[in-house]
Amino acid sequence: MAEETNETNQEVAEEGATEFQAVSEASEDVAREDTITELVDEEDEGKDKLDSAETLNELLHLSATELCVLKQSWEMFMKSLGGERETVGDAIFGALSHRLTCIKEAFQGRPRAIISLNLFNGFRLLCDKSPVPEDLRVHVETLAFKHLGCEINQQRVDGVTEAFLELVTQNVPDLPPGSVNVWQKVLTYTGSCCRYISSTYTDRLKIIQDDWRVIQSAQDQEHEEGTEEHVNRSFAGMCAFSSEVIGQPTEGWMEEILQVFDVLVERIGNPSHLMEECELLAISMITKAKDIQFEKFKPVMLAALRSLLPKSWSTTHETAWEWLWATISHNLRESTIKAREFKPYNAQLFSKLGEGEMDFFRNNLYSDFLAKCPASQEIFKQSQTRLHYIADRVLQSSYEMFHTPKDEMVDDLSGLGLRHVGYGVPIELFAPFTDSCVAVVKDVVANMAKEANLAASTTPTKKISSNTITGGDSDEVQELMVEGFRWSIGLVARLLMRIITEGSTAVMQAIYQDSAQLLGAALREAPRSERSLLQLRVRVGSQAISPLYWALRSGAHTAAKTMLEDVLTIRADRDRYYYGVDHLFTHQPEVAADLLQEAPKLAKVLLDGLIWRSHKTEEGLRPVIYYMEHLVQDPDETQMISRAFVSFVRFKNPGLIVHPILVFVSDLVWDKLARSYFLWDQIFRLVNFVIFLISACFMNRAEVMLDPVWSKFLMAARVLVYTMGFGKLLYSHIYEMHKASVRKEWKQMLGIRVPKYLLKTTEMLSFFLMVDMAFMLTAEPLLHCFGYEADVLIAFTCGAWTDELSFVYQFFSIMGIFLYVALIFGIGSSISIQISEYRVLCLRAVKQVMLCFGVVALAILTFALSINAMTREVRNISMSHEWKDLGSIVTNLFQLAVGMLDLEVLGHMADESPFMLMVLAAFMLLVYTFFFNLLISQFCGVHSALAKDSEGHARLSRGEVILDTLKAVQMKRWKQFVTSLALEKRVDFAEGDIGLPGGLKVFEPAGANPKTQDQIIRFGGHTDPSLPWPEKHHDEGNSTEKMIQKTIQKSLQHYLGKKGGTDSDFTLSSSHNSSSRNGGD
Ligand code: HEM
Repeated sequence: MAEETNETNQEVAEEGATEFQAVSEASEDVAREDTITELVDEEDEGKDKLDSAETLNELLHLSATELCVLKQSWEMFMKSLGGERETVGDAIFGALSHRLTCIKEAFQGRPRAIISLNLFNGFRLLCDKSPVPEDLRVHVETLAFKHLGCEINQQRVDGVTEAFLELVTQNVPDLPPGSVNVWQKVLTYTGSCCRYISSTYTDRLKIIQDDWRVIQSAQDQEHEEGTEEHVNRSFAGMCAFSSEVIGQPTEGWMEEILQVFDVLVERIGNPSHLMEECELLAISMITKAKDIQFEKFKPVMLAALRSLLPKSWSTTHETAWEWLWATISHNLRESTIKAREFKPYNAQLFSKLGEGEMDFFRNNLYSDFLAKCPASQEIFKQSQTRLHYIADRVLQSSYEMFHTPKDEMVDDLSGLGLRHVGYGVPIELFAPFTDSCVAVVKDVVANMAKEANLAASTTPTKKISSNTITGGDSDEVQELMVEGFRWSIGLVARLLMRIITEGSTAVMQAIYQDSAQLLGAALREAPRSERSLLQLRVRVGSQAISPLYWALRSGAHTAAKTMLEDVLTIRADRDRYYYGVDHLFTHQPEVAADLLQEAPKLAKVLLDGLIWRSHKTEEGLRPVIYYMEHLVQDPDETQMISRAFVSFVRFKNPGLIVHPILVFVSDLVWDKLARSYFLWDQIFRLVNFVIFLISACFMNRAEVMLDPVWSKFLMAARVLVYTMGFGKLLYSHIYEMHKASVRKEWKQMLGIRVPKYLLKTTEMLSFFLMVDMAFMLTAEPLLHCFGYEADVLIAFTCGAWTDELSFVYQFFSIMGIFLYVALIFGIGSSISIQISEYRVLCLRAVKQVMLCFGVVALAILTFALSINAMTREVRNISMSHEWKDLGSIVTNLFQLAVGMLDLEVLGHMADESPFMLMVLAAFMLLVYTFFFNLLISQFCGVHSALAKDSEGHARLSRGEVILDTLKAVQMKRWKQFVTSLALEKRVDFAEGDIGLPGGLKVFEPAGANPKTQDQIIRFGGHTDPSLPWPEKHHDEGNSTEKMIQKTIQKSLQHYLGKKGGTDSDFTLSSSHNSSSRNGGD
């Protein structure tokens, strides 16, 4: 029995692959069959116009020999083509489309890999289902429903049959006798079913679709006009109105239906998808009402339709819509019964699952599943803990299906399904997987019942809760728990399978293989207007995912590079330009962050793709367009600067930040907006500095302090220093620290928790300045002398202000001057990139200087100790009093090291104490010749190491300043700035050639970035956006282009004397251009 279920499920999975997703369980098959054969529930609906006798009741009975021949011939056919499903499907597609052009047209725009898989599964299932005529009929009917909308006539049915048989006979010359006949029988049966369904339902479906389109477009149009009255003329609004007229209120369950009515209408031609939506709907409907009378909705719906379609409405329309409601209500009735029945038992099951049961499930699920499907070993290779986590989530999904709001559940499952596309999970594995889940849960439930019975028998007095699985009805309870689980996990699996099928675009397949060729093939037939969208959005239900993001996340960097290049290639026909930059940033606003996090080396590809350089020059200048709109303005217009720019600054890579487009953007924002704000902010600091200098440097004199007028000025200056200077610093640091503590932005340094903002040099300097001023304040004479003498309030000298205090005050004043100057230097470096570069060099050199001073100090100490031990030698020299103790020796050695010692002293020493002279000479050699020269050579090393990146570091600090400054800029001012750039205007590529919006044109010296080819790929011929780009033109130019590029690159390198093409822009942009052509087309 288990095997049988498994087989059924496997088939269902494969039907899923063919997009003919049937319901996976036998009961659901019946439901679908009912949907098709008992399209109208006459008992309920009374007036239904459909007669069940109309439906296809004929079954195809094949004899045992025929069945054997059919199976054998299929296996031989498979074997002859290598046994690969895709190859067989591809061969079938080739044969059919060769014979019937309408087939090719019908499948146009869909990925070939998916078509092949669908065709393969469709034919294979015909063979597999033949032994049971009822199953075959269900499959054939499902297939037929898929063909609704296509014109199926006998000629076409014959065409398909002949093409398939020709393919089989050509590939398998020694077919078993009778094979052709039996295949003919099966295909003719399928064809006639398709024709029957097509002739019966095509018209109805067409009426429904047309009516719905009219309703939708009228609704959209009226919505745009936006009057209150118009909104009520939507389908939902009209239904509410009809309900009122009829005198029945719009119940909660009706509202649920109305919310998804368009999905139901859309899926009416696809029974399995319709069933899936009805089951989901049923779960949320049962929470709204205890007793749902579905027949109440029909008059409401018909009245609404009648008033929305007054002109076209007729009895034919009424029949079609009645049929639609009969089908939907039938499904809903079935599903609500099941959902109502299973929900409490599902809750009961989950309330009883303890850690032991969960462990049992986790362990047995994979062993059961891997035993059933050994192929899945290649997919489930994760660690045990991860597998257990997945098992928990799988189990949980059954509970959530009943208890999570529908929209939330569908959203979650859509995301999960798309992630499974990324994991490369084939949908065939879902049926055996859910089967294993059910089998293990069955065991879990049985074990729980056994344990409960055992407990009851050993402790009969123990009170047993009403929920416990014991007693007379335990079997029934167990069964309902398992069935409830089966139903909900089955629904989860079917939803996932549909999402995977819809999400498995050819682009996603290429990403899974990380293949540029496959990607090229996937895009080759894409309509030119959708080419970039295909790479940036896969939409399934309410969820969308960016394939580019998946490529990055899953490490498919070859595919990601090709996609980036393709999306950022400008293509043109005579009518319009196609450039995917807007799509890129709209569908993946975090593209820069994603790239920098997952594949930083591809960031350059992105940035290169945002620059267009003309291959023609004018008067020694080359036109360049920077498409920087999305580096300036974020797709979310409530944000100020784009997330992409912020990501590049925060990435802190000096090599990347000097990319021409980033330099352009940062200069633009700085010059036109940030600089003025920054300077205004800094003027306050400059004024403070001047006041500080006046008070601590120029007016800090005895005569000023004693002068009754000037002393008042001095006092005013000091008050300003402490209020404007110190006060402002104190406020801003308290504010920043509070912010850091709220956001928990700390960093541990030497065991101390330091707020992260203090790691910035400017902030650190200003913090030290604040501390310095606090010390100055403690030693401030004004405070110490205030009221010291009875009638003198303001005095700068008094008995309380001691000499020590005066020293402390002056020390901190001097420190304050240094700190202020360092800060002002920082301001200067923010304004000028050159000063900033110099500052970077200085900061890096400080480390070397400190090291050098450290070792010199050590040398001084060592030699001082040695000389101190040479008492005999010291006694012999005439200036012995200057070398008599350790302190004076250290002072002499220090003066010698910094060149302050009078060298004449050493002249006498040659006669008086040659030994002492030798020691001093050794000291000088060590300090001058070794340490100081080493310091210089280290400076050189630092300089050459930083020279390449110093601009980058300077640009990074400029970037940080811009981001900080923008925090103070108002949104209104930002908007003005963006508007002033006029980015919505198209920028000419050349005179009369109106280009694309979103960029700014500049001119650069012609030799800076040579270009030999038009960077825009232009195509002649048709200009219909729904057509793919022609291929040939492209390949022809490719090799010539490459050759020319190589030659020019070589001669340039030769001419410029550069090795390996250091002119990265030229190399990169040209290679980008050519490779995008390779990958793209
Ligand atoms: C009812 C069906 C299933 C459910 C509810 C389900 C659920 C999940 C969940 C919740 C995750 C973790 C997702 C994440 O964190 O991104 C996951 C991951 C995964 N699932 Fe499924 N799954 C189902 C069926 C399958 C099947 C049939 C296979 C293939 C045999 C499969 C293969 C995987 C793989 C390979 C991962 C990724 C593991 C990793 O990389 O860490 N799943 N699944």
